[in-house]
Amino acid sequence: MNYVPAGTLTTRTAGTIKLHGPEAFEGMRKAGRVAAACLDMVAKEAAPGVTTAELDRKIYDFVIASGGIPATIYYRGYRHSSCTSLNEVVCHGIPNDKPLRDGDIMNVDVTAIVDGWHGDTSRMYLIGDPPLKARRLVDVTYEAMMRGIAAVKPGATTGDIGHAIQAYAEAHSYSVVRDFCGHGVGRIFHDAPNILHYGRPSSGVVLREGMIFTVEPMINAGKHGVKLKSDGWTAVTKDRSLSAQFEHTVGVTATGVDIFTTSPAGLNKPPYA
Ligand code: MF3
Ligand code: CO
Ligand code: CO
Repeated sequence: MNYVPAGTLTTRTAGTIKLHGPEAFEGMRKAGRVAAACLDMVAKEAAPGVTTAELDRKIYDFVIASGGIPATIYYRGYRHSSCTSLNEVVCHGIPNDKPLRDGDIMNVDVTAIVDGWHGDTSRMYLIGDPPLKARRLVDVTYEAMMRGIAAVKPGATTGDIGHAIQAYAEAHSYSVVRDFCGHGVGRIFHDAPNILHYGRPSSGVVLREGMIFTVEPMINAGKHGVKLKSDGWTAVTKDRSLSAQFEHTVGVTATGVDIFTTSPAGLNKPPYA
């Protein structure tokens, strides 16, 4: 594995993992806070009858007012400020004009670029009063992400992260999505390394101080298979089972991990009321 000081390397170079310094951590903290505060705003707005297009507009306004730019606008042809993934949608749901319904579970994923740094985070939202089995999936997915993050420290591996997530999810008879993963992030939105949310302890890339990446497990109530809808973005569970996801952007410190996208308002997982 190649590691390089992040320095001026602003393009993705295959197999090269950037080691960031204190200025990058400061920049990422700022970008992460904007994205997280934006998700706090969504917690007040997401309710039955509201459309995801309305939420997306509010997300755009919030990020711009915070001095940022939504990273997803014009990203690989994407046109929106967020992804809004409901119920059986695994990820990359496109905001639309359908009103949210009582009982929906929804992931909102926002990436804010602030001073060139990308803060990437997502949370689940309970719309009205979802059934217990949906709320359980949401709870287990949050805990799975946090267990993955808790495995992060110098000398640990990406496989340790994936194993912690997979072991917890499968102990609850859920499955871990294979087709999407976490990623290095910084001045580049999607960079090396890939962070798989399943795996074997001690496998994969050895973590080092200065690495910055996301942990963003997608957990399905049924089987792990996904399929892509004809819009080219929306990924849904093959078996139509419910899916949930949370995402934090984190940095490896000398002794462990910094989470850049913790909620300023303490709204890290639902219920938010
Ligand atoms: N924010 C997503 C991630 O966690 C990426 C969304 S790309 C988009 O990596 F184009 F679908 F918005
Ligand atoms: Co994201
Ligand atoms: Co991400």
